[in-house]
Amino acid sequence: MASIFHNTASKLASFQYLRRSTFGKNVPALSAFFSTSSRRGAIKNVMVVGSGLMGAGIAQVAAVTNHQVTLVDQTNAILTKSMRSIEKSLGRVAKKKFQDDAEGANKFVTDALSRITVTTEPHSAVGEVDLLVEAIVENIRVKHKLFSDLDKAAPSHAIFASNTSSLPIGEIASVTNRKDRFGGLHFFNPVPLMKLVEVIRISETTDETFDALFQFSKELGKVPVACRDTPGFIVNRLLVPYLLEAIRMLERGDASAKDIDTAMKLGAGYPMGPLELADYVGLDTTKFIIDGWHEKYPDVQVFNPSEILNDLVAREKLGKKTGEGFYKYD
Ligand SMILES: NC(=O)c1ccc[n+]([C@@H]2O[C@H](COP(=O)([O-])OP(=O)(O)OC[C@H]3O[C@@H](n4cnc5c(N)ncnc54)[C@H](O)[C@@H]3O)[C@@H](O)[C@H]2O)c1
Repeated sequence: MASIFHNTASKLASFQYLRRSTFGKNVPALSAFFSTSSRRGAIKNVMVVGSGLMGAGIAQVAAVTNHQVTLVDQTNAILTKSMRSIEKSLGRVAKKKFQDDAEGANKFVTDALSRITVTTEPHSAVGEVDLLVEAIVENIRVKHKLFSDLDKAAPSHAIFASNTSSLPIGEIASVTNRKDRFGGLHFFNPVPLMKLVEVIRISETTDETFDALFQFSKELGKVPVACRDTPGFIVNRLLVPYLLEAIRMLERGDASAKDIDTAMKLGAGYPMGPLELADYVGLDTTKFIIDGWHEKYPDVQVFNPSEILNDLVAREKLGKKTGEGFYKYD
């Protein structure tokens, strides 16, 4: 009993610690040591590294909300393609926002595009940044190389953030000398439409850094939530084991895929069933996340791999994108 109480009390205390920064009650003595304290809310120049699905979306919403954005990728061809997709996406937003105002719509798109500069040489541009958001391939070695290189070239006040879905933020930050100015900014796909951003703090993240990331997310028009550096943060920590539990039900023969999905849609009010959702997310992505967690936390049962999932991925039935997963698609 005592230990449960102790556990609960300490969890509550750390939860309050997590939230405290949200309300800006910082420790003044500490604040003075960090140059970010004088720059609170002053994130103006943003570098987004990785111009794929997520990076392009992050660059778009940052540019729309009046930030100067440097978008980085490995080749000019990739950047050209990304800029085209940003332009198209901005066009869709403008069409809704300025229904009978073609001039306004045009200005909205050209203004936002004019705030984005592209480069394949982040070192030459990182000297100007207030915030760097990394959205490159989900591979710890590649992320380490990027962050350790740019850490040396970035100004001391600059905050670094990763958009990783499944890697520990602390592990990514470990190669830098700015762990106090490091956090997670976990956006959701598609970034221009999805309102949520999970703002992750590691034990070294200062209140100033956390506040700046939280405030920046608000400036983008998002709804930020605070979470510690725990596997999957809030959404994926709950969602991925749920998907795996549904796959395990199928594996045991408890119910058919269709009945599991129908049950969760009609019984729990979810817009999609778990197996439909796994097909939509991609079975390779789901397997990648669960395998990574299982390797790191072999004792956590809900992170156990699944034979059906492994088999489907081995046969390249990855869900909607390959035309077959738990279901067949035309
Ligand atoms: N796809 C999602 O739904 C989603 C959601 C939230 C978070 N994430 C995370 O966001 C990150 C990016 O995911 P994505 O889906 O946008 O991937 P993506 O494959 O669409 O884009 C990654 C981009 O990074 C570029 N890149 C790779 N290494 C680079 C380097 N060293 N320097 C510069 N550019 C580099 C690639 O060329 C590519 O354009 C991953 O960490 C992923 O876990 C993805």
